[in-house]
Amino acid sequence: MSALLGMLGCRHPIIQGPIGSMNNPAMVAAVSDAGAYGMLALGFIDNVQEAKRLVEEVKKLTDRPFGANIVLLNPLAPDILKVLAEAGVTAVTTSVGQPGRLYPLIHELGMKGIHVVLSLAHAVKAEESGADGLVVVGAEAGGLRSTKPESSTMVLVPLVADNVSIPIVGAGGIADSRGYRAAFALGAQGVQVGTRFLASTESTVHEKWKEAIIACGDGGTTLLPTRNMTTRAVITPGIRKLMEDPSVDMSEAMGKMDRVGAWDAGDFDNAVAGGGQVSALIRDIKPVKEIIDEMVS
Ligand SMILES: Cc1cc2nc3c(=O)[nH]c(=O)nc-3n(C[C@H](O)[C@H](O)[C@H](O)COP(=O)(O)O)c2cc1C
Repeated sequence: MSALLGMLGCRHPIIQGPIGSMNNPAMVAAVSDAGAYGMLALGFIDNVQEAKRLVEEVKKLTDRPFGANIVLLNPLAPDILKVLAEAGVTAVTTSVGQPGRLYPLIHELGMKGIHVVLSLAHAVKAEESGADGLVVVGAEAGGLRSTKPESSTMVLVPLVADNVSIPIVGAGGIADSRGYRAAFALGAQGVQVGTRFLASTESTVHEKWKEAIIACGDGGTTLLPTRNMTTRAVITPGIRKLMEDPSVDMSEAMGKMDRVGAWDAGDFDNAVAGGGQVSALIRDIKPVKEIIDEMVS
């Protein structure tokens, strides 16, 4: 058994990537029941009771191991970690922030922490700060990115593997058995999957978001400015129109969008349909069990 599987306690080294605050306990349980590592996205949660309710919901639905993603900068992170430890969670992933601050608590609670990194420098620092593993996310991934030039999964995973000794989880561009197997060849012990699970039957995002991923082809995503970061998203017709208009300042246009209202309405010309480059390989919406079975086949 790999060190990563030892930490996760599941059959397949596949982690459900957190998607903002999208939480469906039934989806987490379905991922875990299929042998992978279901994950709650508790990073941005501002209510410990709500975190507890979500954890209890998952526990009612599965007796398989599952985890959660924590944002280190969230002031509630220590309390959420305690809720998870009490529920028997043994491994969490951590994003955004200095691992050094919370890893002593993670270890005191008897848990392992796998830190999410987007660069070699952050990977080396995270290992030095006590991380037990790393999710190494290449530039093609969906979700938040930095504003700096970044390396793709194909380059970043082996680069990190050459420079750290803790287990690595490859992420970015993995949606099927080809990507899954490639990650091992690059030096990872497992994968984290975001966009493919986002376009699954159990995912609770608007159907139009899933349809935008299905409609996405080669070159169909871009990095859009969001505050002091960027986010990789599908280029919908409305976003393309903005991009092609030389009079439009994209940062300003993005700042003006009524994201929440448009997200709820499924209006992805006025909100970001986050998704990785791998959207181009996703052609159908199917249950997470089918996705996992195919990936490990
Ligand atoms: C819309 C969207 C939102 C995301 N939100 C988060 C997040 O809140 N925290 C985080 O650590 N990763 C986040 N991610 C990254 C995923 O967890 C995962 O690492 C990434 O999607 C893997 O690349 P892939 O999209 O090619 O599968 C997000 C990804 C997407 C597509």
